[in-house]
Amino acid sequence: MILNDGYKHCSLKINNTLGLNINTRFLFVAKNRETILKAWRFSKFLKLPFLTLGEASNVLFLEDFNGVIVLNRIKGIKISENHKIWKLHVGAGENWHCFVKKMLTKGIFGLENLAWIPGTVGSVPIQNIGAYGVELKDFCSYVDVMHLRNGSIKRIYSDECNFSYRDSIFKNKYWTDFVIVAVGISLEKKWQPILTYKDLKYLNPISAWDIFNEIFIIRKRKLPDPKIIGNAGSFFKNPIVTQKKATLLLEYFPAMPHYPFINNQIKLAGAWLIEQCNLKNLYVGDSAVYHKQALVLINKGHATPQDILCLAKEIRIRVGRQFDVWLEPEVRFIKSTGECNAIEMIS
Ligand code: FAD
Ligand code: EPU
Repeated sequence: MILNDGYKHCSLKINNTLGLNINTRFLFVAKNRETILKAWRFSKFLKLPFLTLGEASNVLFLEDFNGVIVLNRIKGIKISENHKIWKLHVGAGENWHCFVKKMLTKGIFGLENLAWIPGTVGSVPIQNIGAYGVELKDFCSYVDVMHLRNGSIKRIYSDECNFSYRDSIFKNKYWTDFVIVAVGISLEKKWQPILTYKDLKYLNPISAWDIFNEIFIIRKRKLPDPKIIGNAGSFFKNPIVTQKKATLLLEYFPAMPHYPFINNQIKLAGAWLIEQCNLKNLYVGDSAVYHKQALVLINKGHATPQDILCLAKEIRIRVGRQFDVWLEPEVRFIKSTGECNAIEMIS
């Protein structure tokens, strides 16, 4: 079979931010919906697994992928407005950070707290990206998904997206057989800086650019640049516990950072728990806990998926034994046949 937009036996080493030496049986780079549909039909024809990726900044490949991967590169930004709101319709394959910066350049403010997050626009609703006091859900008005079986487009409005901390409907109901093709974003024309995150409290911003620049400094201080050190951002989610559990833990660890969460629950700082277990110097093979941010696992150069898996297992077990709090990966785990249950893999 001739593959016009596809490649056979492709390395994904430069296409995953952990920098793992992984191959895929087929790779398509889709600049339009037709190529995505073509890649999907191709995978069905060969009875192979199918996976859509943006920039693979939130995945851990456990082995070579024995199927068809399509990189979503559908571009385009449409801007409309009314007297109060900017309305943005953004192609799923746009780079998220470039889009945020482009909007700021046009004087369209509001997304600056979410600047510098790697990945594509199509991925941001999936885990409802969040940073420095805001989440995507605060600005998302809709998500357009394409049904792979017939190519039809369905618009899912924000109130149906079930957005919550690192979660949305796109991780379950609209997971198999759907691909996100565009995201709608609404931004108030009257700009209000959001300075609730502790490191931003003393900033006196004149414009969104001040926040944009400060976020760069904060992130540079804590997070490794994937172009230099392979990583996937926070490897684990911050754990959510009951009020009762938090109160018990605080009796023993009064300095433990904790934040109110929905439904009377408490969010803990996973990085703090890991650091308290003296795991900041922990490594397995060429993978290690990042010394500036314990929630981040890094590839020092030649880490294998198994190195990272063992490291994650060890962290989960040691934190679990000390605090009876069981960390769950934020990163999505991909086997040769497709996504698998990440918690099971490290339990
Ligand atoms: P990918 O890793 O390519 O894909 C993630 C998942 O979405 C996969 O399961 C994939 O199959 C699926 N997917 C991708 N595109 C589509 C599509 N179009 N349709 C359907 N499914 C799709 N995240 C935060 O929330 N906050 C942060 O502050 C943050 N900081 C980070 C810092 C660093 C240095 C790194 C490396 C990562 C960080 N992340 C952060 C995580 C990551 O950048 C985000 O989750 C990002 O949105 C992932 O985008 P991606 O395009 O790389 O997704
Ligand atoms: N801390 C430690 N040790 C560390 C790092 C942090 O003890 O090595 C403690 C500190 O007390 C600190 C607290 O943990 O105050 C929280 O740390 P930080 O502000 O760096 O944020 P985080 O909770 O570790 C989350 C997100 C990040 C996001 C930042 C900023 C998750 C899983 N991670 O990290 O998102 O950028 O907040 O809002 O929610 C990602 O999802 O990939 C990601 C990088």
